[in-house]
Parts: sequence; structure tokens; C-alpha cells
Amino acid sequence: MHAVLPAEELAVAALRAAMPAGMLLSDGADTDRYGRDWTGDHRGRPLAVALPRSVEEVSMLMRCCHELRLHVVPQGGLTGLVGAAVPSHPDGEVVVSLERMNRVRSVDAIDFTMVAEAGCILDEAKAQAEAADCLLPISFGAQGSCRLGGNIATNAGGFNVLRYGMTRDLVLGLEVVMADGRVWNGLRTLRKDNRGYDLKQLFIGSEGTLGIVTAVAFKLYPRPTQVETALVGVASVEDAMALYVLARRECSDLLSAFELLLRGGIEIAIGAHSGLDDPLSQPCPVYVLLELSAGGRVDLRRLIEDFLADAGDLVLDGVLASSRAQAERLWLLREVMVEAQGRGGRYLRTDISVPISRIAAFVSESIVALDAAYPDACVVTYGHVGDGNIHMNVVPPEGMATEGYDDLFHAAEAVIFDAVDRHGGSISAEHGIGRVKQRAFLDRADPLTLELAGRIKDSFDPRHLLSGGRILPLRDIDGGPAWS
Ligand code: LAC
Ligand code: ZN
Repeated sequence: MHAVLPAEELAVAALRAAMPAGMLLSDGADTDRYGRDWTGDHRGRPLAVALPRSVEEVSMLMRCCHELRLHVVPQGGLTGLVGAAVPSHPDGEVVVSLERMNRVRSVDAIDFTMVAEAGCILDEAKAQAEAADCLLPISFGAQGSCRLGGNIATNAGGFNVLRYGMTRDLVLGLEVVMADGRVWNGLRTLRKDNRGYDLKQLFIGSEGTLGIVTAVAFKLYPRPTQVETALVGVASVEDAMALYVLARRECSDLLSAFELLLRGGIEIAIGAHSGLDDPLSQPCPVYVLLELSAGGRVDLRRLIEDFLADAGDLVLDGVLASSRAQAERLWLLREVMVEAQGRGGRYLRTDISVPISRIAAFVSESIVALDAAYPDACVVTYGHVGDGNIHMNVVPPEGMATEGYDDLFHAAEAVIFDAVDRHGGSISAEHGIGRVKQRAFLDRADPLTLELAGRIKDSFDPRHLLSGGRILPLRDIDGGPAWS
């Protein structure tokens, strides 16, 4: 007598029978790594993992999952921070990893465009742009492992947004497989195209809930031939912001990064990495890591030196990198700090934004409130302040029982989000909503926004099979599974 298999297992068996050999993994040993993200905070067990090699295979797969009413979650490099790409649906989810679709299809140095597949690693796409003397300006710590489809699904931000915009500003076209398997071909490289609704924008930042991006056309820029990097110490966040205003005025729009780091973050970095020393001759309360970049015949060195001289007393101390290697060491401080804050385990991450003019008030009010409420916790503050985007993270006190973490994170997040609300900000400027920020998002969203978002979801994915429970609440639509 045969054992009675659960409905999902029958459906996966039917899917396997319909797909080309080798496309589907379902053995636990093979699928495990698709069930947890980079943070380790989010885990789930995939029903199966599909590794399509082409848009046709993604289409075939989705047609079949649609018919079988199998839930699906698209997956890139798993470096997202809000739990959107890890399987979490209570009925189980088939992971669709785009990792085998990893080619750059073309780079055009006259059009300044690139067409690449969604599974391409961001660093690989950047390298191929550079080989054609172009720049793909999406840059952040995870660029060595994140994939382009994930960058689009999350509308990735990063270090260079203040100059080049978010991922949204760099996308000219997309190819997307819809929930029912049809292919939406919007893979155009036109700079200007005003024919009706700009549907590609809906997929950007949709966190896998509206379709599976299989390829992207990016806008490129000329590769900068000069880069100047400086780390400066200032007395306060107010002074850092005054420096920012001056930099915008004095640096001919060539400012490409303006990162804020409070002293605590610098201490975490130098404590964690034996190759990193205190970067300036004296410790400063607040640091700014800034970069100017340009092509052509601009005297960039002169520009940054004049700017720093004009900044006068705002700058307590500083170092201007004299080589690419020295610049990379300055950026290493930023990178090590991000990784090292999590060495002790879980911590609260936030990625809020407020108007640039409110950053100083937001930071000081939040830190005062957090220090008063949780004097033993460690508040780590840094961010892309040129975009009004701050990461204010809370690391639990050493020795605290892990069972208490969720309450601490919840309460500390409420303190930070209250300040965000007071200053007219956003509870998610960069990482998205996923599952982690859903409650805070829904609590603040006005009913019409939610109604329109729900209608968009209904029309793109009528059976609610794609990334259910991310951004919007979980909802099951119509009849039972087709196989029952
Ligand atoms: C950063 C990422 C975590 O700014 O958003 O490092
Ligand atoms: Zn960031």
C-alpha cells in the first residue's frame, strides 16, 4: 500500500514530472541553502528549488505552478534584510532561484546601456560595464553576492544614490514572467518613452510579489577616471550636515558618496579587524566618509582640497586618500563595521529616512531616548545622509538572554519609528518591507494606498501565488488546490 502524500508533495511531484530534468531540486541536502538568508535571521524550508536557465523555462515553470496552485518565491543572492526571499508561506513555497541566468547579454558604450539576466551578480555586471569604460553605479556592501533581480525587486540603494539615484532611476527596461507564466517584454533601452503607464516601475521594489524579473536593461554612466576619497572627523551630526550642505554647493555636483559614521561604529570596526587602526590622529564623535568622482579634465584634487579648506573649523581632523589602496582602506572601515555589529548574533536593523534637514534632530532625539530606555544596549548609527537615510541599529547588551531579544527589538524600534513619524520620514528607505517591516508599514499606510496596492496585487497575481505575505498581508484566493 502506498503512503498518502500531503497535497503539496503531490503537486511538487506533478511539477517535477512536467519540468526538464535537473531543473528542480527537492532533496533537503541540496535545498537547505535556499532556505536561509545572509543574516541567518530568516529561515524556511523550500518545497522544492527550481533553477531555470532561460526565460522560457521560468515561463514554463510558472505556468505549471499556476495550474497546480503552488506558491512561489523568487530568489536572488539572499542578501536582502527583510526576509522577503526566504520561503515562509504556511502552505510551503517553491523557490525559483535565478542563479543559472547569470549572463550580461550586452553592453553598449554609445547608448550607455547594459542588458543582463536577473541572476547576474552585481559585481560581475559592474565589471563588464567598466570593461567598456562605463559605470553601473549601484554600489553597496553586498555587491559581491547580490543578484540583479534582487536589486530590482528591492529597488536597491547604497552609497552612490545621492549622485545617481536608486535602482529605479537606473532601469530602462525589464523582462518579467507573470504569475500565470506569460512573459511581459519591456526590455527596452530607450531613454525616453511616454507610451502610457510605465508598468516596469511597478515591478521595481515589489519584492517578488508581482512577477519574476528575468532580465534588465540598465542605464550606464561614463566611468569616472578620477576619484577622491576623504574621511573627516567632525564634532556633531549637525556639523556633518553643515558640511554636506557646503559639499553640495562647492563640489560641482561631483559628490558621489557622503556617509555618516558615529564614533561607536568606528570602534566596532577597529576592534573587529586587526588590520584597521584608528583612522585619524584623534578620536572624533562623528565621521564623514565622502567621495568625489569625475571623468574629463576636472582638477578633482584641487576641488576637494579647496572644499576641505573652506570647511574650516567644521573639520576637526581628516585624511585625504593619496592612493586607491588608501581609499579602499577607508571604505573597509565602513564595511567591517556593518559586518562586525552582528558578530554577537541578532540585532535590530533599521533603514529609515527623514528629510535631510531633520537628520541631526532625528539622530539626537532617538539616541537620547534609546540610551535612557536601554542604557546597556549598543546603538550603532551610520548611513547615507546625503539621501536622508540613516541606519540606526540596536545590538543587545552582552549576556542578555536571547529570549528577550524580540521584546527589546520591538520596543527599541517603536522609539526609532516614533521619531521617524515626528519628522515626517519613512520607516523603510532602503531595505523594503518584506515580512520584517510589515506591521509597521500597515499601521502607517492610509486605506486608499492599501486598497490600490491590493488591487494591483490582485490584477498581477490573481491567485496570490507569488511571495505571499510580503509587503501586504497573506491572503488566499479562490477554490482549493487544482490537484485535490
Ligand atoms: C548599508 C546597508 C546595510 O548601508 O544598507 O550598509
Ligand atoms: Zn544602507
